[in-house]
Amino acid sequence: MTADSDRFENMQYRPCGISGLKLPAISLGCWFHFGDDDEVDISKLIFGAFDLGITHIDLANIYGPPPGAAERRAGPVIAQLPRDDVVVSTKGGLTMRPGPYGRGGTRKNLIESFDKSLARLGLDYVDIYYHHARDTATPIEETLGALDSIVTSGKALYAGISNYDGQSTKEVDDIRKDRGFHPPVVNQVQYSMIYRKIEDDLLPVVRKTGIGVVAYSPLARGMLAGKPVDAVFGDRAKDLGDKIDSLKKTVEGVEKVAAERGQSPGQMALAWTLRDPAVTTALIGASRLEQIEENVGALTNLEFATDELELIDAAYAAGAGTIDWGS
Ligand SMILES: NC(=O)c1ccc[n+]([C@@H]2O[C@H](COP(=O)([O-])OP(=O)(O)OC[C@H]3O[C@@H](n4cnc5c(N)ncnc54)[C@H](OP(=O)(O)O)[C@@H]3O)[C@@H](O)[C@H]2O)c1
Repeated sequence: MTADSDRFENMQYRPCGISGLKLPAISLGCWFHFGDDDEVDISKLIFGAFDLGITHIDLANIYGPPPGAAERRAGPVIAQLPRDDVVVSTKGGLTMRPGPYGRGGTRKNLIESFDKSLARLGLDYVDIYYHHARDTATPIEETLGALDSIVTSGKALYAGISNYDGQSTKEVDDIRKDRGFHPPVVNQVQYSMIYRKIEDDLLPVVRKTGIGVVAYSPLARGMLAGKPVDAVFGDRAKDLGDKIDSLKKTVEGVEKVAAERGQSPGQMALAWTLRDPAVTTALIGASRLEQIEENVGALTNLEFATDELELIDAAYAAGAGTIDWGS
């Protein structure tokens, strides 16, 4: 692959909290469409994204299906990129296989999972290695100690946490300072115009602790980019009943604001997620390169007028904000 020499020009690079590491404002995730039976041209997605300045590619050991497939398929494509100009992340901790050792934040699972991820990817190192979700059955010191050992080994350059709430993130910060562990530089969490739980919980904590936020599903799996809400949930839509109507209400409300701004709804959704400097990057998925191209167009208008923000808040309060999303 010959990388486009202009690729950095239209992308912004934002720091991960107080760390020196910068990520592109828009990053590419490899959860959907990277399974063994998927027909999407993943080389086209990854190379095309890279040429648009998207230097960050996100994976996890469980991404597939089957688990492991996404790392196995993406690794050889990533290997064709200039390795020192790309930030590759992967994760461990969610269920890879049955039994007591196939999941969790234990030293045993994380270190073994990490080695297997590297082997599947076929890379010498990853840039960020995440613990995928807090494991309350394992002392947090053990989890952080395992991440610290992995970073100390040099085979991951930075540690990350994912789906840690505000309180757990504060604990992480206290423990890593106390124990002198390498600090996790990012917390990867869900954040979009329909899922705003982090605003009152995590964001106040990361502003103090200096951990960057990687906002995943910023398009709400496509709902905020024109994909019909029912289509996103497929067969599960009928079980969700009124919740679907609430989501539709918010989507319709924000689409009106986007039309007034002259942005596509998806572009506005990404700009909105990035409006807070505590958010380092919006981590998108895509099935076609044209979607990524459109999404990068969000960066040409990141500013919001107060009345636009108020209308978006009102659309949330009238719809998605009324739903109990659980944990
Ligand atoms: N840490 C965690 O627990 C966690 C959890 C979830 C996700 N993630 C990460 O976040 C990444 C992104 O998640 P996501 O896929 O839910 O993100 P998303 O960006 O909210 O949704 C992506 C989907 O939106 C649609 N889309 C994207 N751009 C579009 C456009 N311009 N126009 C119309 N539709 C568009 C596509 O749907 P179609 O595919 O139907 O075309 C695409 O697959 C994952 O790959 C993963 O790396 C992490």
